[in-house]
Amino acid sequence: MAKIIVDPVTRIEGHLKLEVEVENNVVVDAWTGGTLWRGFELILQGRDARDAQQLVQRICGVCPVSHATAGAMALDDAMGIEPPPNGRIIRNLILGSNYMHSHILHFFHLAALDYVKGPDIAPFKPRYEADYRLPADINAQAVDIYLEALTIRRKAHEMGAIWGGRLPHVQSIVPGGVSEVPDTSKIYKFLNYLEEIQAFIDNKYIPLVKTVAEYYSDWFSIGTGCQNFLCYGSFPLEEGRDHVKKKKFWDSGIYLRGQYRELDPAVITEEVTYSWYEDDTDGNTPDVAVVTPNAKKKGAYSWLKSPRYNGEAMEVGPLARQWVNKNPDVLALGDKAFSVMGRHFARAVEASQLAKAMKEWVLQLEPGQPVCTPHELPKKEVVGVGLCEGSRGALGHWHRISADGRTKVYNAVVPTTWNSGPRTGSGAATVRGPMEQAIIGTRVADPANPVELVRIVRSFDPCYGCAIHVMTPNGKTLSQFVVS
Ligand code: NI
Repeated sequence: MAKIIVDPVTRIEGHLKLEVEVENNVVVDAWTGGTLWRGFELILQGRDARDAQQLVQRICGVCPVSHATAGAMALDDAMGIEPPPNGRIIRNLILGSNYMHSHILHFFHLAALDYVKGPDIAPFKPRYEADYRLPADINAQAVDIYLEALTIRRKAHEMGAIWGGRLPHVQSIVPGGVSEVPDTSKIYKFLNYLEEIQAFIDNKYIPLVKTVAEYYSDWFSIGTGCQNFLCYGSFPLEEGRDHVKKKKFWDSGIYLRGQYRELDPAVITEEVTYSWYEDDTDGNTPDVAVVTPNAKKKGAYSWLKSPRYNGEAMEVGPLARQWVNKNPDVLALGDKAFSVMGRHFARAVEASQLAKAMKEWVLQLEPGQPVCTPHELPKKEVVGVGLCEGSRGALGHWHRISADGRTKVYNAVVPTTWNSGPRTGSGAATVRGPMEQAIIGTRVADPANPVELVRIVRSFDPCYGCAIHVMTPNGKTLSQFVVS
């Protein structure tokens, strides 16, 4: 049986080692391993709990706003407060700006080169020699849009900085709301940026995704995955302390074994069966889990933990969000949605949907009204939970705070651990993560150019920077593979 190892997989956030076994050019088993240790939660222990939403942003340079949002929500929850309407809306606008940046980054600068042939120069080479199918004129236009997307990403950051102070790590998200006050000038400046970004999404991003989908239509049946979806919901549209039930732009929910259900965060656990951590925390709920690393653990192959929902592997991300929220364009795909192209399509569709909504939200701001609720930490041990949706999927922060106001336990359960955590259980009870499931069964036409594998990985938009929480000094290593 031949083995293909891609280590690291490039054009994703962070470091993934992908290992598959192939028989007659078909993948029969797969292992996705995060190759650096995640130690960020240990850094937070003993620090002033009120700084958490600032510190956790340093987990990642691509998803910091999601961490700021979840971190602040966990503190809101611990203190029993919630932001006033201006604070809620400005948090939504900062997170939404980060979505604009992140989705455009993902499609153009990470995923598109699997389908669009770049010029024969760096940074477009080296590359796997894929089956590039776009006609030359369309391909040339796509390369032009790829370059334009760099400017649009910068503008998305500038747009978010109107409320965030700066990007990628924002200053203004605080417990109880935000520290930035709205005025008419900021509102119209934001709208100007948003108009341009929305036009790019609607006139270039979505048409290009549709063109790629047309020429690569077989990718609507490749990379299916577990077909279970989890969404915490995001962008609250009303006040209310119940994260699960209050009305949000994308509501929370579960799609499990073909059934829609309400989300119950109490059944979320983290497993470490095949992770490089001591087994004593295996199966813990996130509010108590503190891991002990063990790099020599037998049988382990990843630094990621594996979150499970009642023991089930769940896919998170744009496809999960839109499927759970019954987006008509995504539901219209039927079973074709459960695929590589379905994920790209759902991401593009929601970028447009969100840009449109943000134009309404910014006009709901009321200059002169409060942006933050006064607050103080209770003088007893408390647990706060912040559940939101990062651009890559469901993000939860669990924060246990001591009576002296210091962080006792911090645990960020991030989208990529849901999608790309290692398997759990053993023998017949083995549950592989969504990405491993999506890869098994794939036909690899040329094991020396395993482009099929990386196309599947990239469709999930994984972020191993978030999932392992440590950076590497060796970030420019190019893609390598070994065939044996
Ligand atoms: Ni990240």
